[in-house]
Amino acid sequence: MPIRVVRTVSALRRAVMRWRAAGERIALVPTMGALHAGHLALVRAARRRARRVVVSVFVNPAQFAPHEDFASYPRSWDTDLAALSAMGVDLVWAPAVAAMYPPGFATRIVPQGPATAGLEDKVRPHFFSGVATVVGKLLIQCTPDLAMFGEKDYQQLLVVTRLAADLDLPVKIVAVATVREADGLALSSRNSYLSAGERAAAPTLYRVLEDCAGKIARGALPARALDEAAAAIGRAGFVLDYLEARHADTLAPLSSLADGPIRLLVAARIGKTRLIDNIAV
Ligand code: PAJ
Repeated sequence: MPIRVVRTVSALRRAVMRWRAAGERIALVPTMGALHAGHLALVRAARRRARRVVVSVFVNPAQFAPHEDFASYPRSWDTDLAALSAMGVDLVWAPAVAAMYPPGFATRIVPQGPATAGLEDKVRPHFFSGVATVVGKLLIQCTPDLAMFGEKDYQQLLVVTRLAADLDLPVKIVAVATVREADGLALSSRNSYLSAGERAAAPTLYRVLEDCAGKIARGALPARALDEAAAAIGRAGFVLDYLEARHADTLAPLSSLADGPIRLLVAARIGKTRLIDNIAV
């Protein structure tokens, strides 16, 4: 049987209501498509925890700035659908932009706390309001019991967790570990932008994060370890947007391991591609 695709909120609600009436647990996996093994790990985690799995595929214009890659963002609908079908996904929620943001749409969720930590938000000021608005809508449209998010986008994971708590949404946000290539590069839809040379340099980002986390865990001062890491990332051909040690739960700045669990977060550009990654210390 072909996988079911719905394109209106009312059709989505009808399907969800039927499952709920049967007492079935529902998990939502929000994506922008161009699916890779990282997305599929979220789907697998959803399948383990819930009887019904909904995957949303929606390239959300609200989270792209005018100069960013909304128009050219990779789209691979047919292979996405085949992969989701093979994994036994129950329903794909794929609204058109006009169904998500109909004429007259005038409400935005503007998150603070982890969304204003001075990391991604520093470089992409409107990004988390676009993410929070669409994720808020997806959670209200689908009313899942669980929603899966990747640690790959660590600040986003904390923003969404805060959003669900602050708006009393009856959903559990589940974090899924980052899926990596064999050489350590975190899977990302944007990796397809890398030239062969850039692709060869790209794993340095994670290698340096691992090395830096190890040094801090063994007692090095974070500021010192981060300086060395930043230099190594520069030598590999990246232009650094940020590389920081933050509190793993709040993203508050901290200066030593005694201040709380540390997460290292990095964003760097190589050629025209921007990569982000993070690691626990
Ligand atoms: P997208 O980049 O398509 O990612 C969808 C989900 O997959 C996110 O939760 C992301 O963290 C997770 N993911 C991406 N790469 C991963 C990897 N290598 N390992 C594990 N998980 C990974 O993030 C978005 O879309 C959007 O901002 C969205 C939340 C859908 C809102 O539009």
